[in-house]
Amino acid sequence: MSSTVEPEPTSDMPDEYFTSMYADDLDPWGFDTSWYEQRKYEISLALLPRQRYRSAIEPGCSNGALTRRLADRCDRLIAFDLHAGAVEEARRRLAGQPHVEVRHERFPDYWPDGTGDLVVWSEVAYYLGDDNGRRAIDRLDDWLELDGHLLSVHYTGPTNYPRAGADIAPWLDELDWLEPTSRCVDAAFEAVVWTRCR
Ligand SMILES: C[S@@+](CC[C@H](N)C(=O)[O-])C[C@H]1O[C@@H](n2cnc3c(N)ncnc32)[C@H](O)[C@@H]1O
Repeated sequence: MSSTVEPEPTSDMPDEYFTSMYADDLDPWGFDTSWYEQRKYEISLALLPRQRYRSAIEPGCSNGALTRRLADRCDRLIAFDLHAGAVEEARRRLAGQPHVEVRHERFPDYWPDGTGDLVVWSEVAYYLGDDNGRRAIDRLDDWLELDGHLLSVHYTGPTNYPRAGADIAPWLDELDWLEPTSRCVDAAFEAVVWTRCR
C-alpha cells in the first residue's frame, strides 16, 4: 500500500525578518546604489506595454525607489508596505506627488476599493505563504480590469523565503484569465507582464 505525504502549508515570511533587515538601513537591498537593482527597474518598466496607467497599486513598496519611477507612468498610484520606517521614507520621497498615496498596510489584507489597470508585484510575492498567496490571487482577480496588466518581478536564485522566486511566474502562468504579454528571463531574476484576458 502506498501513502502520500502532503507537504506542510507554508506561512508568510515573519515580520521579524523585515525588522532586522531595516534595523540600521532604510535601503538594505541597495535599491538606490546597486546596478543590478537599477537595471532590473529599467527592464521591468520597459516591459510595461502602456505608456500610462490610470490606476495602479504596488504592495511591498519599501523605501519608494521603484514607486518613484512608477509614479511617472501612472495617473493614480497606491503603494504600501508593512514596515513603518520604509513607509516613512517612501512618503518622504514621494512628497509633492499628490497622485501617489503611500500607506502602512499589509498585503494582501489591504487592497484598495474599486478596480485598476496595473498591479506591480516586485520582489514581494515570494514572502507570502500558501493561504495569503491564494488570497492575493483572489484579490487580484477582483481588482484587475479587463486588459489591465500584472507586472511580477522576482529574484530567482536561492532564498529562505516561503516561495522560490523561480516558482512565481509558473504559478501565475496557471491562471487562465491572465495571458503572458512580455517576459524577461535574466540570469538572476524573471520579470513578466500578464494581461487580463477574461
Ligand atoms: C525586497 S523589498 C522589495 C521592494 C520593492 N518592491 C522593490 O522591488 O524595489 C520587499 C518589501 O516588501 C515588504 N513586504 C514583505 N511582505 C509584505 C506584506 N505582506 N505586506 C506588505 N509589505 C510586505 C517588505 O517590508 C519590504 O519592504
